[in-house]
Amino acid sequence: MNISKRAAAIPPSSTLAITAKVREMKARGADVIGFGAGEPDFTTPAVICDAAIDALHDGQTHYAPTPGTPAAREAVAAKLREENGIDCTADHITINNGAKFTVYLALQALVDPGDEVVLPTPAWVSYKPMIELAGGTLVELPAVAAADFKITPAQLEAAITPRTRVFLLNSPSNPCGTMYTPDELRGLVAVLERHEHVTVVSDEIYEQLVYGDEPALSVGSIDSMRDRTVTINGLSKTFAMTGWRIGYACAPGGGGAVIKAINTMQSQMTSSITSFTMPAVEAALTDGRAEVEGMRRTFAGRAELIHGLIRQWEGVVCPRPMGAFYIFPDISCTFGRVTPGGVVIESALNFASALLDEVGVAVVPGNDFLGPGPRHVRMSFAISEEQIAEGCGRVREWLGKLTGNAAPASNPA
Ligand SMILES: Cc1ncc(COP(=O)(O)O)c(C=O)c1O
Repeated sequence: MNISKRAAAIPPSSTLAITAKVREMKARGADVIGFGAGEPDFTTPAVICDAAIDALHDGQTHYAPTPGTPAAREAVAAKLREENGIDCTADHITINNGAKFTVYLALQALVDPGDEVVLPTPAWVSYKPMIELAGGTLVELPAVAAADFKITPAQLEAAITPRTRVFLLNSPSNPCGTMYTPDELRGLVAVLERHEHVTVVSDEIYEQLVYGDEPALSVGSIDSMRDRTVTINGLSKTFAMTGWRIGYACAPGGGGAVIKAINTMQSQMTSSITSFTMPAVEAALTDGRAEVEGMRRTFAGRAELIHGLIRQWEGVVCPRPMGAFYIFPDISCTFGRVTPGGVVIESALNFASALLDEVGVAVVPGNDFLGPGPRHVRMSFAISEEQIAEGCGRVREWLGKLTGNAAPASNPA
């Protein structure tokens, strides 16, 4: 059987691959500390589980409306109005099978072959394949660690052409863990205001997990951007609900054209999300919100812990995480050096595999995150404080045993 060129061109998710490898090593009894996880290590709050269980027993086991039930969509709209300041109603909302699928559908709805999608990098591994599946042309805007992985308004201005269809923004960021401040975001918006043909797809999946003084600002809450922003979010990260697969989009502009297009595609692909999880959406966005602060505080403590520990790694540069649960150290100071196991480190790829083989610490090589990613590894701090301390200690000791000289520094991509 022949595989289509389109399917063959898509790489598997490197982050899910690491998670699967760690799971398999642990099942074999290996002593592994996994910094690969892209999901909270908490369980879903009981009030949310109960809502789904009750719905099951109530017989809500039939097909649900494609965009989501009116009550679930109203709960999403109320959250976006109250927490994010986005002027929207339930008609502007679609609920989909995870924010991952929402991003896919939004790009399918907006991008024609040849359209350009401007993406600050390092960026989440799935954006590039999704842009390519939509036939779009990826325009990368690389941002380096020294700039906190943030692009400048001038960079954005220079990247926009008449072919630009979408500016795809993810703040707080996976994999960088950094976040645009409201002022920085307004700086980017000032550029976008001059280019009315550009739609913003704002992936705000980590927006509740922030560790600075200011909350994350939603682009769609800025009046001038309301009608040309697709805000994407979901329950996975905020409510520890990754396995539930619930994401959503809000797009008030264009007479609801984007939402209609997404719903039409969804109706032909998955029909809707699982029907008995609709009441759980309502429960999460009302009663479930109370438990989010506890989880956020735990992540904030871990962000500080892991940042402090990584700063003890000689030569490694690492911005402090301000959101999400990732940290993205630049480990290029090790390139050219030799590990205790005899591996010459050439890239984040063989850094990560030697680290796993030699001291049982799993990190995600930054290569698939694009931009300067190949000089970095992503570490998730959605693991216990004890594991963070043990894992970072093992890396520090291992780094201390590297021999040979570092390769001359090359310019960051
Ligand atoms: C930036 C970003 N967007 C979207 C998602 C997808 O989340 P979901 O579980 O809702 O599909 C992830 C998950 O890793 C992510 O990191």
